[in-house]
Amino acid sequence: MVKVEFFSSIEFFQVFSPEALERFAAAASVQTFMRGDHAFAEGDEAKEMFIVKSGRIAIANRNIDRESLLALMNPGDLFGEMALFDGQGRSAGARALEQSEVVVLPYASMTEELKLDPDALWAVVGLFSRRIRVADEALADSVFLDVTGRTAKRLLDIAGDSDEFQLPITQEELAGMIGASRERVNKAIAQFVRLGWMEQHERTYRIVDRKRMTNRAS
Ligand code: CMP
Repeated sequence: MVKVEFFSSIEFFQVFSPEALERFAAAASVQTFMRGDHAFAEGDEAKEMFIVKSGRIAIANRNIDRESLLALMNPGDLFGEMALFDGQGRSAGARALEQSEVVVLPYASMTEELKLDPDALWAVVGLFSRRIRVADEALADSVFLDVTGRTAKRLLDIAGDSDEFQLPITQEELAGMIGASRERVNKAIAQFVRLGWMEQHERTYRIVDRKRMTNRAS
């Protein structure tokens, strides 16, 4: 059972009428995933979209031995909506990085509401535009920054405003996000520690010299 307040608390759903939110709540269900469970795999046929309620979901493409981590979905984030609009199946896989609760919303329910209220498509286009911006920036970084620069940038991203943070993913997954091998990323981190820009103990990181880290990331 999903409460209507859940939907009204999510920015994406704020364009919909209170009646539409009631209908979304009635059509939705909750699914729990353990670390490593897949919500779906790349190429799967798709009939539903998801909103993270708790935990963290990785969106990734993989080949035989490596993974490219496209995005991390945190509470309030929506994923699995692309296949609704292009009908081509899942563009990437989704896997829980920790125990996660996810709200599942059937495509039929979203399609119905978008037909009733086409203005709500602005929210969809807004979501896609933001994703293209992020993807454009990642593409530019892969051209303009070396692995060390991309590692500094990604660690600063994950740190946000706080200097001390826990890496929410493994170093292998971090490397998949940066688009480099784990060895190269480890080397970059070791270099930051050696230079005194950062401290690291297992999954706990502390930014010591934010200015130098920021310079290295641009
Ligand atoms: P869908 O294609 O249905 O399933 C995979 C989902 O991953 C996709 O919908 C989006 O929700 C999400 N996704 C795919 N590519 C990206 C990306 N570059 N940035 C953020 N999310 C993405």
